[in-house]
Amino acid sequence: EKYTHSVQLELPTDLISFEGKPQLLSVSQFSRESVETLFRLADVMQPIARRQKVTRVLEGAVLGNLFFEASTRTRVSFATAFCRLGGSVCDTTGFTFSSMAKGESIYDTSRVMSGYVDALVVRHPEQGAVAEFARATNIPVVNGGDGPGEHPSQALLDLYTIQREFSRLGKVVDGAHIALVGDLKYGRTVHSLSKLLALYRGIKFTLIAPASLEMPSYIVEQMAKNGNIVEQTSVLQEGLKGADVVYATRIQKERFVDEVFEGYTPDFQINLALINNVCDQHTLIMHPLPRDSQPGANDLSTDLNHDSRLAIFRQTDNGIPIRMAIFASLLGVDQQVAHTMRDA
Ligand code: CP
Repeated sequence: EKYTHSVQLELPTDLISFEGKPQLLSVSQFSRESVETLFRLADVMQPIARRQKVTRVLEGAVLGNLFFEASTRTRVSFATAFCRLGGSVCDTTGFTFSSMAKGESIYDTSRVMSGYVDALVVRHPEQGAVAEFARATNIPVVNGGDGPGEHPSQALLDLYTIQREFSRLGKVVDGAHIALVGDLKYGRTVHSLSKLLALYRGIKFTLIAPASLEMPSYIVEQMAKNGNIVEQTSVLQEGLKGADVVYATRIQKERFVDEVFEGYTPDFQINLALINNVCDQHTLIMHPLPRDSQPGANDLSTDLNHDSRLAIFRQTDNGIPIRMAIFASLLGVDQQVAHTMRDA
């Protein structure tokens, strides 16, 4: 594999911080420059992520992985990333197996965990809850998804994937046409990804959502800067024409408040016939996963599974080096890893 962005080994520390503390709560903490520095660090991590090289820079460190909402990828890949850096992991899953089930507060939980572990990754069903964990402690805290709020590490791995795929295809992010499809109201991954992409210039965003599940207007306003264009439609075929990236999402029925699940028929499904009809051979098909595999599912068909345009498993693979880079930066071992790799 040959990618055009070079690996620069001299890396600044304090790459990721919020209010003077090493925390990753939102993609709003990033500039274009800091995103690209993190991606160079992720490039350094690639051989360690694949176990072609080994580092023990986090030996003795413990990660607290607190997931109060369902997760496969985020929980396991954060744990794997920490272990690949030489650390170990303690976790709780769901409220049932945490003393929050007995009424313990976020403040007390966070303070207690701070005495046991060196960093926390938290997923919580309420927007803003992870920031509450972070306010109660000085150890690094990472937002693993807070309700319909943000999912910053997912957006970082998505953009990293787009950059790597574009590099292979001779494209750049500036000026790209990105189509975001599905539940843009409750999908936290598209919220974070849209804000990150807005750091780039001349992007054409096409937002394709059923009525009542459109992108929140405050995010649309953030996207429409740097000469970016934002178009909104509910007609899938029209919106996909000319897209360099089609980013599909699952309808987040579990977050519905007053919405009625209607207007989102299989006509919105991304499938092989549609992609062959309206996209070209280099269009990337992405999805944060999980995709819905229930009967009547309408986000992303399995008939694209053997199509090289489908990048979903390259996305999930990229979750490891990106999360390793996040930990290395937050725990201040980024320079150490870079130098170890240079000397190896
Ligand atoms: N993309 C994502 O957040 O997946 P999980 O819910 O499985 O962690």
